[in-house]
Amino acid sequence: MTTYLVTGAAGFIGCNFVKYILGRHSDIKVVILDALTYAGNLASIADELHDARVTFVRGDVGDRALVAKLLAEHDVDYIVNFAAESHVDRSITNPRLFLETNILGTQNLLDCARHAWTADGGGYLPGKKYLQISTDEVYGSLPKTWDEPHPLPVTDDIRRVIGSRSDMKTYGDRFFTEQTPLAPRSPYSASKTSADLITMAYHATYGMPVNITRCSNNYGPYHFPEKLIPLIINNILQGKKLPVYGRGENVRDWLYVEDHCKGIDMVLRGGRVGEVYNIGGFNEESNINIVRQVIAIIARIMRDEPHYQQLLSCPLEAINDGLIQHVADRPGHDMRYAIDPSKIARELGWYPETPFSVGIEKTIRWNLDHRDWVKSVTTGDYQRYYDEMYKNR
Ligand code: NAD
Ligand code: TYD
Repeated sequence: MTTYLVTGAAGFIGCNFVKYILGRHSDIKVVILDALTYAGNLASIADELHDARVTFVRGDVGDRALVAKLLAEHDVDYIVNFAAESHVDRSITNPRLFLETNILGTQNLLDCARHAWTADGGGYLPGKKYLQISTDEVYGSLPKTWDEPHPLPVTDDIRRVIGSRSDMKTYGDRFFTEQTPLAPRSPYSASKTSADLITMAYHATYGMPVNITRCSNNYGPYHFPEKLIPLIINNILQGKKLPVYGRGENVRDWLYVEDHCKGIDMVLRGGRVGEVYNIGGFNEESNINIVRQVIAIIARIMRDEPHYQQLLSCPLEAINDGLIQHVADRPGHDMRYAIDPSKIARELGWYPETPFSVGIEKTIRWNLDHRDWVKSVTTGDYQRYYDEMYKNR
């Protein structure tokens, strides 16, 4: 029996991770610790809450007494720390909360685990591991070499990741590797970098068994509609303008969330202690092209499957590129993120299985088929946030 303590599992990636491990392993227990902030929704783990293998606890990762009690009560083998303030735009308006949750919360989890996992004769109990979920944003911003995507340069390492696929592409000739110096540029990424550093410090100083994974932009089911892809889908259905920051030229590397979850579980079970693993898709796209693709797919689905048109608050003909509205750019907007996941491919056999064309269609259809979930997370506070964030852009 393996027991996971998963923090932040009522959020986007955490809930997908819990679904993934429960579906894959029968001999596990999962303790979920989540503060249920605006980004955490019990509706995202409604089925899992009825699973006898799952215990849910509402609470803060920074609460020392609570975390110590959970570790004492449950014989936790793996801690997977997803809990975080995760939205760059919010970090620009309220940086302090990001430092509290992302840095101090991480340190608290590490410290409680250090005490709970120390063996009587010294050293750590066998089989324990702390995994910090980090981000490619800790590496800062890469230059964009080309305005249009190019095919990947196929080295032996890259071939191991992409196999015979030809759909992967890049906008630049440099990638983030685990050796790339850390150079965060937003309050969010600075807080995540600090969390990585304190995680590595616990490994170096106290010998804590840790790993860090750094992933690119995830997309998929249960994604809160303040992030680009779900926000665009939601706005299209409501016939609202689609806010594109600046010229929409910034590039992100998009990773289907289930592929990410698989990589995390591989690192937990097989990753070398003390190592960092990049997890990414070799799937770069500019924001403007992402928005255009989402518009085109929704318009096609609405035309081919007219029963979905009842979800539209505007005429079908209005779903076109005319909805795009260029708005003021994000301050300090990172130009390009691009992950090289050769290390996890080489050591653990992970690769990004889901082509973007498949993943984005699944994501859009999930959003069409789960309007109740979207409604439940976009009432009240969400509307206030949206009005505040976009009114002066
Ligand atoms: P999310 O914002 O959707 O969810 C965060 C979850 O953490 C929520 O359930 C929230 O209630 C919980 N939480 C927040 N503060 C807490 C606290 N103090 N104590 C306990 N729980 C708390 O985030 P996400 O997109 O699922 O991201 C998960 C992790 O992955 C984060 O650490 C994020 O930095 C990292 N990450 C995300 C992406 C992405 O594309 N979404 C990319 C790279 C890295
Ligand atoms: P986001 O989903 O916030 O993720 P991150 O900033 O962590 O990469 O944004 C993805 C990209 O989309 C980023 O370059 C900012 C841009 N963006 C917009 O153009 N409009 C929007 O309304 C949002 C939320 C993001």
